[in-house]
Amino acid sequence: MRTENLHCVKVEKGRGEQVRRALKELKLLRTDAKITSKSDCIYLPLIRALKAAESEVVGVTEFLTADFTILEPRRSIEDILGFSPAYEIIGDIAVLTGSQDTIAETNELQVAHTILDLHKNIKVVAKRISAVEGVYRNRKLKILAGENRTETIHKENGCRYKLDPEKVYFNPSLAGERNRVAMQVEPSKTEQIIDMFAGVGSFAIQIAKRAPQSHVTAIDINPDAIRYLHENMGLNGVRNIEPIEGDVSGIYLKCENKANRIIMNLPKSAYMFLREALYMLHPKGGMIHFYTVEEFYPAKGGKSKSLDMALEITKAKVTAKLKEHCDEFHYQTLELQEVRKVKPYAPYAYIIGVDAAIY
Ligand SMILES: C[S@@+](CC[C@H](N)C(=O)[O-])C[C@H]1O[C@@H](n2cnc3c(N)ncnc32)[C@H](O)[C@@H]1O
Repeated sequence: MRTENLHCVKVEKGRGEQVRRALKELKLLRTDAKITSKSDCIYLPLIRALKAAESEVVGVTEFLTADFTILEPRRSIEDILGFSPAYEIIGDIAVLTGSQDTIAETNELQVAHTILDLHKNIKVVAKRISAVEGVYRNRKLKILAGENRTETIHKENGCRYKLDPEKVYFNPSLAGERNRVAMQVEPSKTEQIIDMFAGVGSFAIQIAKRAPQSHVTAIDINPDAIRYLHENMGLNGVRNIEPIEGDVSGIYLKCENKANRIIMNLPKSAYMFLREALYMLHPKGGMIHFYTVEEFYPAKGGKSKSLDMALEITKAKVTAKLKEHCDEFHYQTLELQEVRKVKPYAPYAYIIGVDAAIY
């Protein structure tokens, strides 16, 4: 372990984080040296002595030098392996997501153990041995290293989700999208929300927690998803969700005219359920968050379809489909407020999200 005598500032602990951020922003903080503390003060290492104007901006008056431990630079997985394997992290499980032949089998164990060594919070490394498939949209996994289990607790946007990715759908890369939708629900208002394909509650719980006066009806056909949803309501202390297990193509009949907001996260088949969604929408209308998959291709048989074209095609298709049902249910107005790419689905396909206001 190496130490170095460095210029530093001394601040009381209560202001430590604020000053640390300010120094970092001004690029004056030595990030490779360990911050130290003594009684109620902390010592923040600097790349050089502060100038008078800088100390004013940061709001510190005590400057000195002190010995700091210099941290060893963290080696990345690429430094160690010579390549970056693709993996996603669900709770404390790392799931290798690259295609089967990307990593030779002899390399798999080395990759798995390197992930365990690098991330102390990862306890299981598994690889996906099937695509996300079937009605339940789950996948098969093979454990490569670590503990012999596939159940975990994933933390996202201040919520906790217990789940087993072999039994239920879960995609950590949708955290931003779930947050975007949840932020549209105003905490002070009372909304009736229906999540038609709720999974373990990853939209429903965040919304229910943010808007305690609102109510979410969360439907899923997969019994394991509904079992986890019940558990996740307890884990997150929310009661304003009604989990319903079953096929939404029958359940919708019990929810006529109910919802101000509907979430339809079943990208491969959501078009098939638009009529059910409008049946459940309140007569005064509301918002539908609709997800679909649209392909694009830079060049195929002399033709090309850019991502922008794919967005336009989605817009046209959703408009046509919704209009059919708007007429049937006597809605006057359809506004596609946003049509945007959410995340890649396959090499030449995107999940596209549409926010459709109908009234
Ligand atoms: C893509 S996942 C979305 C899960 C969740 N909304 C999320 O973001 O994590 C789709 C979910 O729809 C469920 N599902 C598929 N077909 C259904 C149907 N006909 N009725 C109700 N749920 C269905 C699946 O079991 C799966 O949990």
